[in-house]
Amino acid sequence: MTWQTPLLRVDPLLADPATRIIVCCGSGGVGKTTTAAALGVRAAEQGRRVVVLTIDPARRLAQSMGLTELDNTPRRVEGIDESAGGRLDAMMLDMKRTFDEVVLNNADPARAKAILENPFYQSLSAGFAGTQEYMAMEKLGQLRARDEWDLIVVDTPPSRSALDFLDAPKRLGSFLDGKFIKLLMAPAKAGGRAGMLFLNAGMSMMTGALNKVVGAHLLRDVQTFVAAMDTMFGGFRKRADATYRLLQAPGTAFLVVAAPERDALREASYFVERLAAETMPLAGLVLNRVHGSGAAQLTAERALSAAEQLEDLAAEEEDEGRAEDGTGAAGGTGDGAEDAAGDGAAAEDAATDGATVSGAAVDGQELSPESLAAGLLRLHAERMQVVERERRTRDRFASLHPEVPVAEVAALPGDVHDLAGLRTVGERLADGRPAVT
Ligand SMILES: Nc1ncnc2c1ncn2[C@@H]1O[C@H](COP(=O)(O)OP(=O)(O)OP(=O)(O)O)[C@@H](O)[C@H]1O
Ligand SMILES: [Mg+2]
Repeated sequence: MTWQTPLLRVDPLLADPATRIIVCCGSGGVGKTTTAAALGVRAAEQGRRVVVLTIDPARRLAQSMGLTELDNTPRRVEGIDESAGGRLDAMMLDMKRTFDEVVLNNADPARAKAILENPFYQSLSAGFAGTQEYMAMEKLGQLRARDEWDLIVVDTPPSRSALDFLDAPKRLGSFLDGKFIKLLMAPAKAGGRAGMLFLNAGMSMMTGALNKVVGAHLLRDVQTFVAAMDTMFGGFRKRADATYRLLQAPGTAFLVVAAPERDALREASYFVERLAAETMPLAGLVLNRVHGSGAAQLTAERALSAAEQLEDLAAEEEDEGRAEDGTGAAGGTGDGAEDAAGDGAAAEDAATDGATVSGAAVDGQELSPESLAAGLLRLHAERMQVVERERRTRDRFASLHPEVPVAEVAALPGDVHDLAGLRTVGERLADGRPAVT
């Protein structure tokens, strides 16, 4: 089957001055952070002023981008080719600090102090599911408001589901909107046991912190906290809505990153539908870590059957060799044969420990040139089966969403942890075609 879906072209997207925000989302571990960083490097080296907002980057990648401090402000990335007039800043999201900033910017100083010092706040700001997603959006809003960059590339948190990024702020918004807190406050006001019971049942994630404070202290903390937060409910909700609108704006492009595996693509498929439902602009799908082969014209079936033939041949030669002089068939010429002979000797050494003569011969036989070639063919067949499976998965996605442009990035031999690796990923992204067809 031929490649029919439209090709995602990242270079025109990166170069377009109208593109102001790119959001890389997708399920856990698929390459969101890598894609975001690679796009940032590429756009900067093509002349744009870019900031990349990363979330939990792997340590080595963070180091290579100069992200050694978690100080919540963008820093210039060294080693970027700035000759085209661009530059790259990068930052890691510090969730706690972002939450603090939100409080500081939205409450008067005395109230802000009361909130920040409240032990209850400390567990809330770190512990709530969705806080990270909310804070990523909050930070995006802040960066956009500074208007220092042509392009903001946003990584998203390592959620199980890509949809969490869109759902979490609303969930957190509705929590902060008051229902939950009012519920919390009502029994606390009454000062009775009911309040404690509710806390214990509903907020078990905070028990660590709660255990540190007891009884009356706890209630007082809760009340101070609730009173202080009360003034901010509206603000949270308003900003969550504003960031939501920013995500729907024409200058925003979503890239859904997925691995060419069934579950990941199913997830990507939901996400694509969800973006459409929310009228959020999808630029395309990045299929990351796709496998290819330099010899794709040789199918798995043919490679396997050739391997079998070679193995038969090797077995026959082995029999003949044994019939002639009883020493195995490690002869032949060329590099492969030399290696084979070397390893064959080692295998024979190993086999002499109490093994029978015919056992040694069998070990030797596995390393004959024919057997080596057969082994390679089998490896190739396995690779081709992976390639084939990935192709079927990709085609299934394409048949569900024929309109979604796709770029493929080959699985690189090692992790991507430096600027050179990011440039390679960027090139693959821009090329967009399967590594080898
Ligand atoms: N094309 C690729 N070839 C080889 N390795 C890759 C490729 N893309 C990503 N990786 C590696 O895969 C790992 C996961 O990538 P990454 O951290 O970007 O995923 P993520 O989606 O951000 O994960 P999380 O959901 O945990 O945040 C990293 O070690 C990265 O170096
Ligand atoms: Mg990540």
